[in-house]
Amino acid sequence: MQHISSYRKAFVDYLNAYIELKEPLNLYEPINYILQLGGKRLRPVLTLMTAEIFACDYKKALDAALSVEVFHNFSLVHDDIMDDAPLRRGQITVHEKWDINTGILSGDAMLIMAYQLFENYEPKQFLDLAKLFSKTALEVCEGQQYDVDFETRDDVTIPEYLKMIEYKTAVLVGAAMKMGAIVANASQDCQDSIYNFGKHLGIAFQLQDDYLDAFGDPQTFGKQVGGDIIENKKTYLYLKALEFSNDEDTLQLERLYSVNPNDPSDKIDTVKQLFVASGSAEATKKEIENYTKKAFSVLDSLKISEENKNELKTFGNDLMNRNT
Ligand code: IPE
Ligand code: IPE
Ligand code: MG
Ligand code: MG
Ligand code: MG
Repeated sequence: MQHISSYRKAFVDYLNAYIELKEPLNLYEPINYILQLGGKRLRPVLTLMTAEIFACDYKKALDAALSVEVFHNFSLVHDDIMDDAPLRRGQITVHEKWDINTGILSGDAMLIMAYQLFENYEPKQFLDLAKLFSKTALEVCEGQQYDVDFETRDDVTIPEYLKMIEYKTAVLVGAAMKMGAIVANASQDCQDSIYNFGKHLGIAFQLQDDYLDAFGDPQTFGKQVGGDIIENKKTYLYLKALEFSNDEDTLQLERLYSVNPNDPSDKIDTVKQLFVASGSAEATKKEIENYTKKAFSVLDSLKISEENKNELKTFGNDLMNRNT
């Protein structure tokens, strides 16, 4: 097992060699732009790490890792259109730099490119990878639709929220790891366990993303801080704040989440104060820890070396403490 940063470097080198600037430029330039904008590359690193954990040279998993990252970036381009987001990784979003139609079509092409990368595998692995990919990609769409539906609903429950983030985010983290296990020809049991590990980690990851969306440092976060509050996203922070608040604060929160002011800065400030005062910010931090621990407990039953388990735990703890 190599260090996380060396997997990241190997992955980025492979990505850079894959990227081509072709005609029509208005299709491929936005694709290259988003793929080279940086990002943590956490999903492809997990694919490569998992392949090696199951005794396979990580290089065999590079196409699967690339597929996952291209799919992830496709989902970001469309997500930023849906969330009306101006910033991604500290830079202007694709649909603002070009336009919405460009974002839609470049995103579509990336989804196809992600699928196409499985052609580099033998029939049995191709089939397993493609089946997992199709199931996961559809679930991501379902999660994204719930996310948008929840913006205009005022009766969203915590279990509904957890289901939504499992679909929009966590299943892809699970799938990224399972793909590494598929390429390594790991047993079905191992594939399922590592998928569950990734899924729990993915839930913690999205809870942390929601937390940072409100409380992140604009200098490091890379996205518009307060974006979820502007869009009335029914996050864990919001739902827990409703649960913990007295009648007066509940009414105020609900009222704030039913308006879309031209200047949202007062709304963002007040909502953040309510998140903190109600104890919801603290409860969210706790829940991030709970899901990270749930992920770690899946490792107990997995027959891999202690060293590898520790490497995965380091990865999970780093995610929990990230600020970007
Ligand atoms: C952002 O994912 C979308 C979510 C699922 C929260 P990342 O936080 O992994 O984004 P990058 O790739 O590092 O920019
Ligand atoms: C994104 O959730 C999930 C997908 C892209 C599928 P968010 O909307 O919270 O992601 P960010 O915060 O824009 O990265
Ligand atoms: Mg978004
Ligand atoms: Mg979104
Ligand atoms: Mg977010």
